[in-house]
Amino acid sequence: MPVTVRVRAERAPGEKRVAATPDSVKKLLAAGASVEIESGAGTHSLIPDAAYRAAGATIVDPGTAPGTPPDAAPDPGILFHVRPLSATDVAALPAGTVTVGMLDPFQNAAAVEAARAGGLTTFALDLLPRISRAQSMDVLSSQALLSGYRLATIAADAFGRMFGMTMTAAGTLAPARVLVLGAGVAGLSAIATAKRLGGIVSANDVRAASADEVRSVGGTFIDLDMGAADAAGGYAKELAEDRAKRQRELLTPHIAASDIVLTTAAVPGRAAPLLITADMLAGMKPGSVLVDLAAESGGNIEGSIPGERREVPVTGGTVTLIGARDLPSDLAPDATKLFAMNCANFAGLLLKEGETVLDFDDELVAGSAITHDGRIVNERVAAALEGVGA
Ligand SMILES: NC(=O)c1ccc[n+]([C@@H]2O[C@H](COP(=O)([O-])OP(=O)(O)OC[C@H]3O[C@@H](n4cnc5c(N)ncnc54)[C@H](O)[C@@H]3O)[C@@H](O)[C@H]2O)c1
Repeated sequence: MPVTVRVRAERAPGEKRVAATPDSVKKLLAAGASVEIESGAGTHSLIPDAAYRAAGATIVDPGTAPGTPPDAAPDPGILFHVRPLSATDVAALPAGTVTVGMLDPFQNAAAVEAARAGGLTTFALDLLPRISRAQSMDVLSSQALLSGYRLATIAADAFGRMFGMTMTAAGTLAPARVLVLGAGVAGLSAIATAKRLGGIVSANDVRAASADEVRSVGGTFIDLDMGAADAAGGYAKELAEDRAKRQRELLTPHIAASDIVLTTAAVPGRAAPLLITADMLAGMKPGSVLVDLAAESGGNIEGSIPGERREVPVTGGTVTLIGARDLPSDLAPDATKLFAMNCANFAGLLLKEGETVLDFDDELVAGSAITHDGRIVNERVAAALEGVGA
C-alpha cells in the first residue's frame, strides 16, 4: 500500500499558508504516495478543496487524526505542516508518524519531548543543512525571500511619501534613503525591492561575503571596518557585547540619515542582535519609518513589538516603528506555492516507490531529523533541551 501524505489545515490564528498545492500533490502522487488534504486547508491561499481533489488528493475532516477512522490510512503516514506542531498536536498522532514542516525545536521543547515519547519521526525543515542540494527544499530561504519583499512594501506604505525620485515641472521629489541591516536572504530581497521602488539603498551585515552580495542586488555596502563575524554553515556569529556596542555607535549616523530602516539581522539559536537602541531612534528625522523583521525573535530595534505599529516621539515629530509578524502569510498564495514545493521535494528524499524509507546516511535527512525511534536524534537540540527538562 502506498504511504499517505496528510496535509494539515493550519490552526494558528493568522496563519494562511498550507503545505501543499495541487502541483505539489501531483508531485507526491508521482512519487507513489497517496495524499489527504484536511478540508479547507487551502482556503486562505485561494486553493479550494475541489482543486486538490482534481489533482488527485482525497479531502478529509480536519478533526480526524491521521491513521484513525473514518479516514483510516494504511499506516501512520507522513504529516505535512507549516507552523511548528504543539505538544497537543503531536500527542494526537499515532506512533510511527513522520512529520515534515517547521518545528523551531529550540523554542518548542514540549512538542519535541512529546514527539520523542510518542515514537514519531520529526523533520524540522528549518534545520535543513543549507547546502546546494537542499535549495529546492529550503523553507527558510523561500519564506525569507517573501518576508524581505513585504518588509520593503510595508515601509513604502507607511512612509507617506514617494519612494523613488520623481521629477515634475513643479519640482523634484527626492528619493527615499533606505538602510537595510542584516543582508541575508530576507535583507537582500528587501534591498532588491527597495531598489525597484526607486530608493537609494545601503546595507550592513557582519558576514565576509555580504559586501559582494549587497552590491549584487544593487545596494551600497556600508563597511564599518570591524572585521567579519562568520560562523559555520554560512551564518553570522553573535558579536561580543563590546563589538555589538561599537557596531551600534558606527551605525548611528547612517540611521540618523535614513528615511527608512529595515532590519533583518539574526543569529541562529540566539535572540536577534540589538542594532538600534531607543536613543538611536530618538536621533532620527521625523517621518522616518522603521520595520523590524526580527521583532518576533527579540527585536533588532529596541521597543519593536510583533504585529504593532507605533509612533515614537523624536525632535520635531515622530517616527513610525513597525514590528513585523507573519509576513509570509501576508502573501499566502505565493508563500504556499513555494513552501508546498519545498515539502514535496523533501518528501522525495523519504519516498521510495511509494514507501517511506528513511536513509539517515543522507545528510539532509540526518541533518533535519529531530526525533526518531524514541530518541532526540539531533545532538544540538538534545543538548539544548536537556537544560529545559525535556
Ligand atoms: N547555500 C545555500 O543553499 C544557502 C541557502 C540559504 C542561505 N544561504 C546563506 O546563509 C546565509 C544566512 O542566511 P539567512 O538569511 O537565513 O540568515 P539569518 O536569517 O540567520 O540572518 C540574517 C542576516 O543577519 C545577519 N546578521 C547577524 N548578526 C548581525 C549583526 N550584528 N549586524 C548585521 N547583520 C547581522 C546575518 O549575517 C545574516 O546575513 C546567507 O549567507 C545566505 O546566502 C545559503
